[in-house]
Amino acid sequence: MSLGWQLYVFIIVLGTFIANFLLLRWSSKFRTDEKLGEGNTTGHRWDGDLEEYNNPLPRWWLNLFQLTVIFSIGYLVLYPGSGIYEGTLDWSQAQQYEQQVAEEEARYAAVFAGYTEQDFDQLQQDPDAMTAGLNLFGNHCAQCHGSDARGAIGFPNLTDQDWQWGGDVAQITATISNGRNGVMPGWGAALGGEQGVTAMAHYVRSLGGLEHDADLATAGQAQYGLFCIACHGPDGSGNVILGAPNLTDDIWLYGNSMDSLKLTIDQGRNNSMPAFSGTLSEDKIKVLTAYVKQLSADQQ
Ligand code: HEC
Ligand code: HEC
Repeated sequence: MSLGWQLYVFIIVLGTFIANFLLLRWSSKFRTDEKLGEGNTTGHRWDGDLEEYNNPLPRWWLNLFQLTVIFSIGYLVLYPGSGIYEGTLDWSQAQQYEQQVAEEEARYAAVFAGYTEQDFDQLQQDPDAMTAGLNLFGNHCAQCHGSDARGAIGFPNLTDQDWQWGGDVAQITATISNGRNGVMPGWGAALGGEQGVTAMAHYVRSLGGLEHDADLATAGQAQYGLFCIACHGPDGSGNVILGAPNLTDDIWLYGNSMDSLKLTIDQGRNNSMPAFSGTLSEDKIKVLTAYVKQLSADQQ
């Protein structure tokens, strides 16, 4: 915390102390020997005959307030809170959080260490490992790929047989550990604008066996050989090393509507899967890899 903030907190704490002290002094002054509930009213009157007595606070109640003030002094000596003093216990929220994380990690390390020794087939047969995978997936992956792992526009479906970056154990492990960045450049200018982009979109639809205009597709085909073949391959089946999707199947990362295809071809796409090697241990990534493979095996 910078000095400015330290002073800011300290002045509020000190101000609260002084204000409480004065308030307590002030309200103890009203202790009179008059009998409670007689004579002294606030002067308010409701419904003709309802009045409010103006009695001093009971002594035990005031004492409770004083106790809280004494408690807070002790608290501010032990814990950070005054803004200018760290407290004798040397406690901090971040430290407590890290300690709890370390304790949990230690508790689970033993469980996951057992999984390290198993191979992927064994892991997929082990219901406990798959439950652990499901939980890890829910915590770390579901926000993008969906809790059923079926993805959404721009987020691949992990339950199908189609892999943008490859579906064997090593490829999936690499995807999860290091992340992936799919970069498709925009080709609007190279294709000569709207007309060329439309023709290309028709050709892409023809590759996928979708309804298309044959003449426009033929015009697009010539350009495909120039601009697209390097990444998507001569037959459009893609390239897992570059993350260039297969254009001949019925699986589309961005949908197969004319508008979406034209947008992709005109402006390109840039999409990334975050790396998890910093967040998840190797054991956990292993369990997740087995789980992700299992998801598509289930669909077969
Ligand atoms: C912030 C969103 C996000 C999170 C969180 C995320 N992913 Fe992804 N993931 C993506 C995107 C986007 C892609 C596609 C990348 C691309 O287009 O190149 C992807 C791609 C993948 C692929 C490659 C699919 C293929 O067809 O090759 C796998 C496998 C994968 N993610 C698994 C996971 C797992 C397991 C987790 C949890 C540990 C996870 N993802 C968490 C966004 C995310
Ligand atoms: C430098 C390599 C590269 C070139 C060249 C390239 N693409 Fe791509 N393309 C990609 C990558 C990588 C993706 C995936 C982008 C992502 O992950 O978001 C992609 C995605 C696409 C998609 C979306 C597929 C889907 O499933 O939604 C279409 C359509 C496409 N490209 C068509 C083309 C066409 C047509 C050309 C030529 C004009 C072309 N690409 C040139 C790399 C390339």
